[in-house]
Amino acid sequence: MQQVTFRQGRPEDSDAACSLIGSQILSSPLFLKPLKQLFSQIPQNGEAVIAQSGGKAIGAAAARRGLAYSNGKTDFFTEMQGDFPGEDLWTIIDIAVSPDFRGMKIGSELFSRMLQALKDRGCRHAMMEIWVRSNGWAPARNLVHLAPGFRSYGILDDFYIDDPFPCDFCHGECHCKAEVVVLDL
Ligand SMILES: CC(C)(COP(=O)(O)OP(=O)(O)OC[C@H]1O[C@@H](n2cnc3c(N)ncnc32)[C@H](O)[C@@H]1OP(=O)(O)O)[C@@H](O)C(=O)NCCC(=O)NCCS
Repeated sequence: MQQVTFRQGRPEDSDAACSLIGSQILSSPLFLKPLKQLFSQIPQNGEAVIAQSGGKAIGAAAARRGLAYSNGKTDFFTEMQGDFPGEDLWTIIDIAVSPDFRGMKIGSELFSRMLQALKDRGCRHAMMEIWVRSNGWAPARNLVHLAPGFRSYGILDDFYIDDPFPCDFCHGECHCKAEVVVLDL
């Protein structure tokens, strides 16, 4: 196994990150559009961390300024804004590691580096929409304990059922859920 290195993401990482995240989360260009936009907004309103091996991106995490789900919904946002009044809240929108490199703490390192990068900006809390597949698989749930603290706002059933992009996991009517958490940084 080649050595894995980590670095801050740059606008020119957009294609590699979208291709990796598209293959591991959802492939629809509609789903990937905000991710593409985020890369073009680094550093002002976007943040990314890339894991590389052999010159290839094998892991990526991305965050954007403000509260945003993947599908434009707003559940819990009013409550969050009330809980953290006036704060510069960010959203960790995606994290993925190539299957060949999973289970080696690369996701943990990407996540911890993202938390640190947001903290370095002065951000105190970040929201994350954890995708809970219809069979209950929610790998990002295993990462949140790396934050100094977190609060779960709840699990939203059938969160993606009316999305304009198809679910690559359900291949039909989507019964995946989202667990919404706010992380302390
Ligand atoms: C989430 C993801 C990035 C984690 O990457 P990773 O490099 O495998 O993560 P790590 O090796 O750092 O493991 C993180 C935790 O998950 C656990 N874990 C990893 N693989 C596991 C497995 N197959 N079964 C059970 N637990 C597992 C690890 O033990 C670790 O927990 P710990 O800190 O308590 O020891 C990766 O699973 C992934 O890309 N998933 C698909 C994309 C996705 O769903 N992204 C999240 C969208 S919200």
